[in-house]
Amino acid sequence: MEREQWNSQMGFLFAAVGSAIGLGNIWRFSYMAYSYGGGAFLVPYITALLTAGIPLLILEFAIGHERVGSAPLAYAKMRQGWEWMGWWAVIFVMFGILLYYTVIIAWCVNFFFLSLDLAWGDDPNSFFFRAFLDVSESPSHLGGIRPPILAAAAAVWFINWAIVCGGVRGGIELANKIFMPVLFLLTAALVIWSLSLEGAGLGLSAYVTPDFTKILDPKVWIDAYSQIFFTLSLGFGIMIAYASYLPEKADITRWAFLTAFINSGYSLFAGIAVFSVLGFMAASQGKPISAVVSQSIGLAFVAYPKAIGLMPGGSIFGAVFFLCLIIAGLSSSISIIQAFTSAMVDKFGFKRNALVTLISLAGFLGSLVFTSRAGLLWLDILDHYLTHYGLIVVGVAECILAGWLFKIPALRDHVNRLSSIQLGKWWEHLIRYFVPGALGVILLGDLCGEFKTPYGGYSWASLLSIGVTWLVLTLLAAVAVASRPWKTKYYLGAGRIRNADQV
Ligand code: TRP
Repeated sequence: MEREQWNSQMGFLFAAVGSAIGLGNIWRFSYMAYSYGGGAFLVPYITALLTAGIPLLILEFAIGHERVGSAPLAYAKMRQGWEWMGWWAVIFVMFGILLYYTVIIAWCVNFFFLSLDLAWGDDPNSFFFRAFLDVSESPSHLGGIRPPILAAAAAVWFINWAIVCGGVRGGIELANKIFMPVLFLLTAALVIWSLSLEGAGLGLSAYVTPDFTKILDPKVWIDAYSQIFFTLSLGFGIMIAYASYLPEKADITRWAFLTAFINSGYSLFAGIAVFSVLGFMAASQGKPISAVVSQSIGLAFVAYPKAIGLMPGGSIFGAVFFLCLIIAGLSSSISIIQAFTSAMVDKFGFKRNALVTLISLAGFLGSLVFTSRAGLLWLDILDHYLTHYGLIVVGVAECILAGWLFKIPALRDHVNRLSSIQLGKWWEHLIRYFVPGALGVILLGDLCGEFKTPYGGYSWASLLSIGVTWLVLTLLAAVAVASRPWKTKYYLGAGRIRNADQV
């Protein structure tokens, strides 16, 4: 069986950027920058990017490319007994993060249509939480399914399915080659439009004015590192799978630097539109900027709709804004479906499209709980556990595996032989010591916080039964799948450099 390959390395770059740029870039980054000292936040953010983000991205590209496999296959070929970790990552992202991520994209689809006639009226806050989501009182009260969200979620899963069925070249690569330029153009239009609004300067100065006292707080550093992790899709097994479809000769470091810089550049750029609009809203309501800023979901579904309602031509602005979120979200969601599919095909040799159909159906069914009245609460809890613990644990394990149990100098040679930007010894040190150390500190910091106050004011019962159960169940599933025998011959091949085989 021939492994699929990208049409061109440019196509790979588009796909990697498509996976990296997602919902997180548009609202999570802007909000963090604002609340963590404006321009000063760039210090921890860029430090995290350079010391952990880029080195790990290079590592994931190198692993996928050298071992030629999806995450479980690549890990299995690095060291016996480590396959389960690759499965755990792709399973909990596919049947955890993705299930609610698609529902947030579904809300964006709903809001795209709602913005055409500004259907949220003058009180977007109660519209979103009451009329639209009708949030139930606790996670154990599921309530009914919200039909408009259900319909939109079905559409999102259908699009995901249709793209991934097209294959690596005809589906993923093609979709990203269309999505990314369209996303950049639409975002540029939003930025230009928002800068022309009255009060834009007010918002911009809140966005960029540095407040260096804020970055003394360790929490800011922890959040900067976890943001970099999420935004570059690290620990998802995605970048490993994508790099395995590169041709023999591929400029690994160049693509890693470009992916990282385009992704962060996009965040900074989209932030201009986010904050100019908030400045406009503050000016037109005569309020200070701090009164109109809200966090993550509130920013996109409450603060923004409010501003859109006040703006001349707001309905078009709103439609374009939600379209940007939809595109950014889809290009990320297809990447994990591909990573999971690739892992299953590597292991069991399944027919690709039958498998994609099956997992899209399973994914849609799994998303149903997030379309219920308790959906927002479930989403909040799962997101906390999977992104704070799941991804970080995988990141640490990846560094230990590559840095200590596998010949990392051989991996560096492999990259240097092919790449225009050469990696020094510093890269090995970062992977062996610094990155696992930094992530370990984050993990400990998070755990301590967890025991002090249960997350988000939920009851321990809800947190344990949803968040922890999900982590444990996916882990058991991963171990179960890893213990099955390999049904394909992929497992037998060595990596691209034979001498890097097991130590
Ligand atoms: N990087 C994405 C973001 O910033 C997150 C992401 C990438 C993701 N791939 C994913 C989320 C797959 C869910 C499923 O939003």
